[in-house]
Amino acid sequence: MKKLSEKIRGEIAIHGTITCARFLELALYCPDTGFYERDDDTVGRRGDFYTSVSVGRAFGELLAFQIADWMQEFAGGRTAKERGAGQDSTRGIPSGAGIKYQIIEAGAHQGQLPLDILTWLRRRRPELYEQVEYWIIEPSLRRRQWQRESLEEFSSKVHWADSLAALSRTRPGITGVIFANELLDAMPCHRFGWDARRGVWFEWGVTWQDERFSWARRPEADLKAGIPGGFSSALLEVLPDGFTTEICPLAEQWWSQAAGILQRGKLLTFDYGLEHEEFFAPHRAQGTLRAYRKHRLCTDILALPGEQDITAHVNFSQLRKAGEAAGLGTEKLATQAQFLTSLAGRFWEAPLRNGPWTPQQSREFQTLIHPQHLGRAFQVLLQAR
Ligand SMILES: C[S@@+](CC[C@H](N)C(=O)[O-])C[C@H]1O[C@@H](n2cnc3c(N)ncnc32)[C@H](O)[C@@H]1O
Repeated sequence: MKKLSEKIRGEIAIHGTITCARFLELALYCPDTGFYERDDDTVGRRGDFYTSVSVGRAFGELLAFQIADWMQEFAGGRTAKERGAGQDSTRGIPSGAGIKYQIIEAGAHQGQLPLDILTWLRRRRPELYEQVEYWIIEPSLRRRQWQRESLEEFSSKVHWADSLAALSRTRPGITGVIFANELLDAMPCHRFGWDARRGVWFEWGVTWQDERFSWARRPEADLKAGIPGGFSSALLEVLPDGFTTEICPLAEQWWSQAAGILQRGKLLTFDYGLEHEEFFAPHRAQGTLRAYRKHRLCTDILALPGEQDITAHVNFSQLRKAGEAAGLGTEKLATQAQFLTSLAGRFWEAPLRNGPWTPQQSREFQTLIHPQHLGRAFQVLLQAR
């Protein structure tokens, strides 16, 4: 990835120290050379990190079941919970050929999650399948091509938009579900440090020094992303010098925008994340930004841009507030283990209707909910209108 390093160095040479967000934008999303633009596998066993999707089909099937149940709820029918074990009913889902609901996913990467969801819906809820259209929000042409290839058999069902704004021009007022798995924790964030002596925040930027990328303080006058807020003066008094944290305006904007276009339905995300106050625990004094390569945590986040994944925890308190400000109600903020366990309980109540659960799926489920695998690391925020 020499070309990408040279590009970043070129920007630093022209503009001086760049923000962490700009560094991440290039390292992760630079056309052709960014980490998420690479043609080889970056997610899954052969890649650099696992996601719940790459663990296997269980995640997508449970999610498809949940989405189907929500659609039933929107139509005024009974949910799986209300129907009780083993009963088969499609009552309440409007009939007819017309499309009634949208399923909107962002960050679909190679298209595996839409494939798992659509395959399950077509097989297990054929009447509902006829009434949904699936939208993928995908700004990258290259990733869109990967997704088209994965979803070839669903080509009449799946549509693409390059942003939520573009989607809302085509489909004003969404009824359905907008969701993402590990989208917001992959968005470029800003990084701040606390100067205890002067009692001010400063922004960490990235520069090129001694033949490597390194962290450097940016001039105060250039503070563009605002500064970390929501601290009591008592907390600031005891915050150690150099205490570091991140803020991600892009994630908050994305959530507000998604909330704004949702006319009726659910907004859901699975991400690495914390509530606001948890960011200030003493063991997080270096912040939450980190890099993974070949399933290992890397010590130098700035080394090898384009060759390692870089992620930071999402601030769920801010997202929750942003959704509520747009008129949504918060239904759940839970660990992935809590969310999926309750979902699986309902799924298993009706094996004839929902499909048998194989030993392979049980193993996948264990990985998804195990506290030392993905169960506790990921949190789920669910809001609704
Ligand atoms: C950590 S990966 C998760 C991939 C997939 N959802 C999964 O769980 O395996 C994050 C994905 O989000 C995509 N992404 C980042 N920003 C995006 C945006 N604004 N809109 C849509 N996708 C985006 C990245 O390109 C990448 O494919």
